[in-house]
Amino acid sequence: MSIKTMQSVEVQNLLQKVAGFNNGSGDERVKTIVHRVMQDIFQIIEDFDITPDEFWQAVYYINELGGNGEAALLAPGLGMDKYLDIRLDAADEQAGLDGGTPRTIEGPLYVAGAPKTEGFARMDDGTEEGAETMILTGRVTDEEGQPLVNAVVDVWHANTKGAYSYFDQSQSEYNLRRRIVTDENGRYTARSIIPAGYGCPPEGSTQQLLNLLGRHGNRPAHIHFFIAKTGYKHLTTQINLAGDKYTYDDFAFATREELVVDAVRVEDEVHANAFGVEGPFTRVEFNIQLVATNKPELQNRHERKRALETAVV
Ligand code: BEZ
Ligand code: FE
Repeated sequence: MSIKTMQSVEVQNLLQKVAGFNNGSGDERVKTIVHRVMQDIFQIIEDFDITPDEFWQAVYYINELGGNGEAALLAPGLGMDKYLDIRLDAADEQAGLDGGTPRTIEGPLYVAGAPKTEGFARMDDGTEEGAETMILTGRVTDEEGQPLVNAVVDVWHANTKGAYSYFDQSQSEYNLRRRIVTDENGRYTARSIIPAGYGCPPEGSTQQLLNLLGRHGNRPAHIHFFIAKTGYKHLTTQINLAGDKYTYDDFAFATREELVVDAVRVEDEVHANAFGVEGPFTRVEFNIQLVATNKPELQNRHERKRALETAVV
């Protein structure tokens, strides 16, 4: 079947009315974008001969996706978060604000308001049997390597099952989530546990579509960071641990070569004692360079809906 109606006056008039171009109210930017989106969807229906059955499957898929709260999970799976990062990188470059530690996607699992401590935080609640102790250390500096004191390093990661507290109600409040204020040398230290990678709910809408694309829905073991300091560009980033099956095959496209970090097993007791740890542990080091800016709008994380966030802090 090859039905071509897109160029007809009837369809073009329909699109004009759909976007509200024939009225004097509403929002011009929204109208223009909706017009373009609907034109592109109509065109896809024409080009791929989408049948009514296929169309209604897609409509009810979107219903289910929203119903089970997975829209912000499908987005990174379809490369949208990565694409926004590519655009932000390009904008930084154009403004002469590139450099420093690279950004990568936030993901949908941040929870605002984690406990804040100076220099050091214990992140895990000690309840996970058999978890590998992790000592995470790093320095926050400017691009010249000067330490940034009182930078806020907001860290969050999954447990050994790849699950995040708050979303996984079986974990204690703010488990594996902390804000650490850097010390006089720009240092932060966290004691926690080595996380496992996240996997999309196997029966969820995101995985359903990924299956049709022949793709898995897994992420490597990773640790998220927001780093904030007045006078510097806010940084949203993550480290992916080296050696994970998915380090270079992240369904959410967050891996960047500069953000792949070795997790080093330490068996030495003296080293362990220095961190107050008994027995072997795993060390992860992540140093962070921030880029100076006097633009206030670049010093805060961008706005999006986040768990327990009432205002950007
Ligand atoms: C995560 O950071 O764990 C995540 C990111 C994107 C989609 C799902 C999970
Ligand atoms: Fe994550």
